[in-house]
Amino acid sequence: MADPSDGSRAGGEAAPDRRLSAGRGRRRDRRVYLRRYPLLFTLLAATRGRPVLRLGRTLVVHGPDGYLDALTRTPLDRAAAGTVGGTAHRLGTDSLLFDQQGPEHRQARRALTDDLGPAGVARLRPVWTALLRQRLAPLGDGAEVDLVAVVAELAGATTAALLGVDADPVALARAARRAAAATAAEQLPGPRLPGRARAARRAVADLTALLGGSPPGTDPADPLDPPDPPDPRGLPDPPTPSDQPGPSPERAGLAGMLALAAVNTTVAAIPRAVAWCADDRLWAQADAAETRDVLVDELLRVTAPSPVLPRVAAGAATVAGCPVRAGDRLLLVARHAAGAHRADPDCAAPEPARTARLVFGAGAHSCPGARLARAQLADALAALAPYRPIVVRARADGHAALPGWAQLVIRAGR
Ligand code: HEM
Repeated sequence: MADPSDGSRAGGEAAPDRRLSAGRGRRRDRRVYLRRYPLLFTLLAATRGRPVLRLGRTLVVHGPDGYLDALTRTPLDRAAAGTVGGTAHRLGTDSLLFDQQGPEHRQARRALTDDLGPAGVARLRPVWTALLRQRLAPLGDGAEVDLVAVVAELAGATTAALLGVDADPVALARAARRAAAATAAEQLPGPRLPGRARAARRAVADLTALLGGSPPGTDPADPLDPPDPPDPRGLPDPPTPSDQPGPSPERAGLAGMLALAAVNTTVAAIPRAVAWCADDRLWAQADAAETRDVLVDELLRVTAPSPVLPRVAAGAATVAGCPVRAGDRLLLVARHAAGAHRADPDCAAPEPARTARLVFGAGAHSCPGARLARAQLADALAALAPYRPIVVRARADGHAALPGWAQLVIRAGR
């Protein structure tokens, strides 16, 4: 992706070793976009000089004001095709926060407030700190560690504890990543391939089953997902998870959606942040309690793990001065609204937190897991910092829902 205003601060305030490596983190991180969404991100990079750009019925919103207008002052169609809520409807799972509004949404959010608030995060913390201690210990013996595998397990274990289910963390993370990749493919523009819808339904059903619930029912009227043909040998169908007892479809659906949101963002976010920290040699800031939280916000700002939010307007509004009407598509570029492209992470002169935290959205639907996500990254950085890790190998993921690393192998740097 062409990134001419790459934004590396050559400022004299940086520590000497940091100046030597400035820009390396950004150069490596760019690979995750080029591997997963090369055309989209080339388009976004080429147009980001304009706060908002209309392309037919689609508005590409780059600036923070337009981003806030869209998320907090524009009526949105939360069940429109091509959005998370719309895809959930197509796959037979709805009432899942993303697609809700008004009192129904407020009630569902309240249920999460305790679990993801300060007390909830403190309760969950031992789950991931214990895992980090164990899985990173081999770094002390000079061994290599794949951080993506560690973070996937961490995300699976945390999600299982959050939901109170007894699922294997690695299997849970794998199912959540598969389901997200399959449903993200469903949201891509272009003709809908029959096999894609079926694969997405299966992946969501597998995840729901792992969480102890019934999978969403299939819609026999959906021509894109016809029922499986009868077994030619006349054998009965193998039992499906829907034959098993479990929580209500709404509860299982909500658990599945939370697992999707929690696992995929975490698996994208932490390895990218760690790679950037290692490449720009920011371990001293990661080690010091006084700078660690600022570094967390800065690393999340520059990586913007959920870089583009697709939305659809449900009514008339104005976004960064541009009139919008019902049915217009809005591509909200969280990455640019938060200033990911403007400046490298800098604990001495960070972006204001209100800008950096736009990576978590804004308004009534802003990310309820932000506190948890920041705590996990802070603890991961604290656990890694004493080893001063360097990146040995990094392979970008070509299939994941969010741009990220499929493998990030690190070893102690001293
Ligand atoms: C670095 C990690 C994360 C990032 C960057 C992130 C980002 C986002 C963004 C941009 C949104 C949409 C906000 C909007 O529409 O205004 C969102 C929504 C959401 N996130 Fe996160 N997220 C992260 C981690 C998590 C975690 C760990 C959880 C759960 C434990 C979670 C649960 C959710 C849920 C349930 C929603 C839907 C909220 C609603 O519609 O009311 N997220 N997240």
